[in-house]
Amino acid sequence: MRKKIVAGNWKMNNDLSETQDLISGIKSITKNSDAQIIIAPPYTNLYSAFQALKGSEIEVAAQNMHQSENGAFTGEISAKMLKSIGVNTVILGHSERRAYCGEDEVLLTEKVNTALENDMKIIFCFGEELKDRNYNEHFEVVNKQISNTLFHLEKGAWSNIILAYEPVWAIGTGETATPDQAQEMHEFIRKIIREEYDETTADDLTILYGGSVKPGNAKEIFSNPDVDGGLIGGASLNADDFMAIVNAI
Ligand code: PGA
Repeated sequence: MRKKIVAGNWKMNNDLSETQDLISGIKSITKNSDAQIIIAPPYTNLYSAFQALKGSEIEVAAQNMHQSENGAFTGEISAKMLKSIGVNTVILGHSERRAYCGEDEVLLTEKVNTALENDMKIIFCFGEELKDRNYNEHFEVVNKQISNTLFHLEKGAWSNIILAYEPVWAIGTGETATPDQAQEMHEFIRKIIREEYDETTADDLTILYGGSVKPGNAKEIFSNPDVDGGLIGGASLNADDFMAIVNAI
């Protein structure tokens, strides 16, 4: 059976002491859902987050990594560095990195391959822009984003992939896909995975929804059969809100 997951993408927020406060806040709230919690603080706080969460079930993920194993890449961080501090999961393909850092499908394919070669789990993000939806091209766009970057993978690799459908028009805008729009897209995604691979791969795959998930709308979105949790931005910066979303599963 596939896992339910709620992951918090902190983006470029929280310094060291804010990180410690937020983690204490999260730990102090009772979790009464079977969702796996993942938090993704900025690079500088990954190690302290990992230390603070030792002994808890909460996992720590990085928000990005470089595609090379090592070398002259000033300012970059490798998979091996992440793994050496206990970080085994990485977010790749976030729309902000695609838009602001020019990450395209060729680069993302390399990053996916490097992460998997290093036995890392990947939260792979993708999603259409508003104009794609307005032209009714959202299924085609999402299909391409997934197939161009992930369909070269062998079936076995999919046990390390978590997908995160994040319509760009819903990220940080306060605008959310309706529960029906989310379900419709997630069902489509599972269908193309089933067609390319098989029933088991599709059924076992966790597909998260991201884009302005809040305590007030989480339950409705998560109640859809193909929505297995969320990737949460803004609302993951507040312990009460984040745990309310976790407990909405
Ligand atoms: P948001 O961000 O929840 O603030 O919309 C989601 C994301 O970018 O992962």
